[in-house]
Amino acid sequence: MTVPIDKSTILKYDVQGPRYTSYPTAPEWSAGVTAAVYKDKLTALGRSDKTLSLYVHIPFCEKLCYFCACMKVIRPADEKYGEEYLTHLFKEMELVASAIGRKQTVRQLHWGGGTPTFLSEGQMQRLLAKTCELFDVDLTGEIAIEVDPRTVTASKLKVLRERGFNRVSMGVQDFDDSVMDAVNRHQPFELVKNVTDSCRALKFESVNFDLIYGLPHQTRETFQDTVDQVITLKPDRIALYSFAYVPWLQKHQTKLVQDDFPNTDAKLDIFLLARQKFLDSGYQAIAMDHFALKTDEMARAFNERRLFRNFMGYTVKPADEYLGVGVSAIGFLENTFVQNIKALPEYYKAVQQGDLPVERGKELSEDDRIRRWVILQLMCHFSVDKKQFCSLFDKSFDEYFALEQGHLAHCVEDHLVVETDDTIEVTELGQFFIRNVCMGFDAYLRKDGVSRRFSRTV
Ligand SMILES: C[S@@+](CC[C@H](N)C(=O)[O-])C[C@H]1O[C@@H](n2cnc3c(N)ncnc32)[C@H](O)[C@@H]1O
Repeated sequence: MTVPIDKSTILKYDVQGPRYTSYPTAPEWSAGVTAAVYKDKLTALGRSDKTLSLYVHIPFCEKLCYFCACMKVIRPADEKYGEEYLTHLFKEMELVASAIGRKQTVRQLHWGGGTPTFLSEGQMQRLLAKTCELFDVDLTGEIAIEVDPRTVTASKLKVLRERGFNRVSMGVQDFDDSVMDAVNRHQPFELVKNVTDSCRALKFESVNFDLIYGLPHQTRETFQDTVDQVITLKPDRIALYSFAYVPWLQKHQTKLVQDDFPNTDAKLDIFLLARQKFLDSGYQAIAMDHFALKTDEMARAFNERRLFRNFMGYTVKPADEYLGVGVSAIGFLENTFVQNIKALPEYYKAVQQGDLPVERGKELSEDDRIRRWVILQLMCHFSVDKKQFCSLFDKSFDEYFALEQGHLAHCVEDHLVVETDDTIEVTELGQFFIRNVCMGFDAYLRKDGVSRRFSRTV
């Protein structure tokens, strides 16, 4: 880091704000996107030769991690929960495939959760078989799964690899005992090492770790040890997430003691330390919070401006549209966000009635599409090419964003961006405050003022 981050910049920009895994952000979505709207979009999709990314949500976890902000359902390890879920999931997949009307090509398949490996080996095999029956799954594409190192077995990993899965992401979070105690999640180094070794032996093409900074009891020193241990295992990719503390959405986060959290200064310090260590160990920094070995596809995609951002965070975008199946899953197709019902009993009920289990969504206006493009450019590439904007939208960037000139001027003054006639380039300092830079282009925040619905940006 060549630019020192002074405390006043941190204080000024440490506000609540979106992570921009979507624009417009989820609080702006509404029940106006119904099952009927979704069906029409699926039918339109079926008339095109667009390719798909398919996300499958498996909500179950055996134990609650107190930091967790994902959609999960805690259940004891018992096949019956997976059985009941698969029955409904298969039905939903059939409804989706029938609305599309033909076998659409899937170039990227991702099982997320919750914990997808909560399913038994047989259940996972049936889920993949069902997916291949309804969609034309390109098994040379990216076939990825999130695993929990505490519960995944070598034998499950073997089954997954044999069936074509080539990328594994695992929740590592932190190896320090007091941090693991505080968040109710123990996965010591040896355990993660064993799972990583199994993945390597099975020749998974990419092994990815998730880490979180900002957790209770974390300090520079403790996290340095975690990072050193992580580096010895050489994961291909690392997602280093800023802890999202959103107790108004995730009640169980109140089990965490706020006084144990590192303060904003310390949190940023922990991130900077980890970042430097990864850079010194041959990793490339990818956009806001990822690191990848230079040989990894994500590093290549970042360098070639092919990186993309969606609900999964950063991803390499191999397909035109994005479908989500399973409780709470999100899709984006035909310029429309669609989210499934978030409560499991209601999801089951809708599917039993033969309805697409849609809860809400957002059809993008032209202004939404324009701003989404700018925010994606900033989040994924740290730059906006005004000429490209002009050729895509047939509008002058400076004229369209006349109201945003004040925000940009502040960003320039604070050394977060450099603006020329043709480009906006985010500086190294600005990369740490990229969410704040994007917030200036968010028309909904302008309407609402700075919102209390999001986690803090630093
Ligand atoms: C959907 S979770 C599934 C991971 C997998 N089931 C496991 O527990 O190992 C994916 C990742 O989201 C991240 N995550 C969850 N809650 C978070 C929060 N509140 N703030 C930041 N990251 C979070 C964690 O790093 C987690 O590994």
